[in-house]
Amino acid sequence: MTQKNNEHEDWRLKIDAAGPRKAISPSLYGIFFEDINHAGEGGLYAEMVLNRDFEINTLPKGAHWAGNLLRTAGGWHERKWFSHELHGWSLVARGGAKGSIRQESENPLNDRNPHSMRLRTSAVGERIGVANGGFWGMDVQRGKWYELSFYARTERDQTFNLAVTLEDAVGKQEYARATVADVGGPWKQYRCSLQASDSDRAARLVIAVDRVGTIWFDVVSLFPRETFRNRPNGLRADIAQLLADMKPAFVRFPGGAVVGGLNLDNRFQWKNSIGDISRRQGTMNLWGYYSTYGLGYHEYLQFCEDIGADAMFVCNPGMSDGYRIAEVASAQELPTFIQEAMDALEYALGPADSTWGRQRAANGHPAPFPLKYIEIGNEAGGGAYLEHYQQFYAAIRDKYPTLGIISNQRPDGDATVEIVDDHIYANPRQLVQAAGKFDTADRNGPAIYVGEYACAGDVGQGNLTAALAEAVFLMGLERNSDLVKMSSYAPLLFNVNDIAWPVNMIGFDSGRVAPRSSYYVQRLFSRNRPDELLATSMIQPPGDPEVFAIAGIKRESGEIIIKAVNLGHVARTITVDIAGIGSLASRSEVTTLRHDDPTAENTLDDPDVAVPVTSTLPIAGKKFMLELGANSLTILRIEGK
Ligand code: AHR
Repeated sequence: MTQKNNEHEDWRLKIDAAGPRKAISPSLYGIFFEDINHAGEGGLYAEMVLNRDFEINTLPKGAHWAGNLLRTAGGWHERKWFSHELHGWSLVARGGAKGSIRQESENPLNDRNPHSMRLRTSAVGERIGVANGGFWGMDVQRGKWYELSFYARTERDQTFNLAVTLEDAVGKQEYARATVADVGGPWKQYRCSLQASDSDRAARLVIAVDRVGTIWFDVVSLFPRETFRNRPNGLRADIAQLLADMKPAFVRFPGGAVVGGLNLDNRFQWKNSIGDISRRQGTMNLWGYYSTYGLGYHEYLQFCEDIGADAMFVCNPGMSDGYRIAEVASAQELPTFIQEAMDALEYALGPADSTWGRQRAANGHPAPFPLKYIEIGNEAGGGAYLEHYQQFYAAIRDKYPTLGIISNQRPDGDATVEIVDDHIYANPRQLVQAAGKFDTADRNGPAIYVGEYACAGDVGQGNLTAALAEAVFLMGLERNSDLVKMSSYAPLLFNVNDIAWPVNMIGFDSGRVAPRSSYYVQRLFSRNRPDELLATSMIQPPGDPEVFAIAGIKRESGEIIIKAVNLGHVARTITVDIAGIGSLASRSEVTTLRHDDPTAENTLDDPDVAVPVTSTLPIAGKKFMLELGANSLTILRIEGK
C-alpha cells in the first residue's frame, strides 16, 4: 500500500494554456538499433540457426587470434565467443552410427562464403546427422510452420535422402519431420516446410542422412513462416511489434560502435549486407560475436517503411571506432568511404534506374525507402573527424539538399553542423540533473539529437528507478524541443544469454520478450507527445524536488496531456490548476507506471512487474486533485472541448 499525503496545496501543478507555447518536435522520439547483445543475430532477426554459414571464425582483415582473444593491429582485443569453428553444430550419432563433422574450405559455395560443413559417415547405425540448437535454443510453437532452406553438395553424384526433424534438445521428442529426397551432386539449394506438433523454447534442428558417404552443407537457414509483416528473411514478430508499438519517428541503424568497427575492415559494410543471404559477408562484430548481416541494410529500410518510421543511416566516416583505437583512412582512401555513404543514400533514395536504386529494385523494392537522415560516424572525434566530416557533408549536401545530416561533434572553424549527436549514460541522480541541461543551452548553435542515453548506473539491470529518471530526462527534452529535435535510448535489445552492455531496454530469449519499464516510458512519451508545450510550473516544498511535471496540448483536438513523475517513495496528491482555457471536458484517461518498490524490474519470468495501467478519470473543473503513486509516472490526457 502507498502512503497518502493530503497537503495538496503544497504540491501544485499550475498550467497556463494562454501563456507562451513552444512547438515540440514531431521527430523527438525515435529508436536506436545496434547489433549488440545479440540484438539482431539471435534476436530481432528471425533466423533460428546459429552459425548457418560456417563463417563464425572468419576474422576481419588485419586482425588475428591470440589464444581466446581477437587482436587488431592497433592493439585492441576482443573476446573469442565461440568454442570452435562449428559452434552451434554437433554430430548426432546413435545406435552404432559412426561419422564426423568439420569445417571445410575446399570447393566453397561461392567466393563470399568460403567455408562449409562436411559430414562424413562410415556407419549409419540407428541415426546419423547434424544438429543445431539455435541461439540458446530454438523456439518452436505447436501448430506453427517453419521453413528450412540449405545448400548441399556431394561427391561423384552420390545422393542422400535427408530426414529433417525439429525435436527437443536431446532428441527424445520429435515435433516435426520432413524428408528431402535425392540430395546430391554440385551445390544446390533445397527447401522443406515443417509444422510443429508441440511447443518448446529449447528445441533443435536435426538433418540426418540415410547412408554412408560424404555431404557438405552451407547456409542452413530455418525461419518461422510468420515473421513481422511476413517478410521473407524477416524479423521476429514479437520483438518487431514491440518496436512498432513505440510509434518511433525514426529508426537509427546500424549503431553505435559497430559503425566504426574494431578496425576499418570490421566497420559495418552495408554492401555486404544486401541481396541473397548466401552471398552476404558478415563479420565478427566488436561486441564479440559473429553477425551474418542477415538483418542488413535492406531489411532495416523495409522495417522502417513497415512501421511508418523515417530511416537514419549512420555511415562510416573513414575511421574505425575511436574507443577501440581508431584506424583512420588516409586522404587517398577517404573518397572510397564518402562514395560508400553516397551509394547507401542512392540505394535508399535513388530512382530505380540508378546504379544502386536498380539493386534495391532487384532486391524487391523498386520505390525509394523513407530515409530522412544520415549521421556521419558514431562517437568519432578529433581533428581527423572534423576534416572528414566536412568532405562528407559537402558531397551529401550537394546531392541531397533536404536530407538531415548529423555530426558527432559541434562545429569548429568553418564546418557547417546542422544537427549534433550528444550521448549520455548516467546514474539516476545525474540523469535527473541532466534534464535541466538544455534549459540554458546555446540556441544559436546546431540542433541537438540525443542519439544515445540511458539511466545505466546503480539501477540493477534496468529497474523502475532508471525508467523514472529517464522520464524526467525526457521532460527536459520536451521542454527544450525548440533545440532538441530528436532522441533515442540505447541500447535497445538484449538476449539474456549474452549481455555485453549493463542496462538495455528490451530483454528476450529464443521465445519470450520482457520489455523493461524503460521501454514503457519510451512508448508512453512517444505516444503522448503533444504538439505544443504549455507554460507549466510545479510548486512543491523546498528541498530536492520529488515531483516533476509538464503539460502540452494537441493542436487540432485541443487535448491537454499532462505528464508527472513522482520520484518519492510515498504517494502525493497534487492540485492541478489549469488557467487560460474556457472550460475542460469532464473525461480524461489516466495511465500510470508504478510500483511500491523502486528497484522493481521486469524479467522474462515475470515480465509484468512494472507496466502501465490505463483507466478513465472524471475531471471536475479546471482545478482538481491528481494522485501520483509512489515511484510513478502518470500521464493524464484530458479530452479537448
Ligand atoms: O549503446 C552502446 C554503445 O555505447 C554504442 O555502441 C556506442 O556508440 C556507445 O559508446
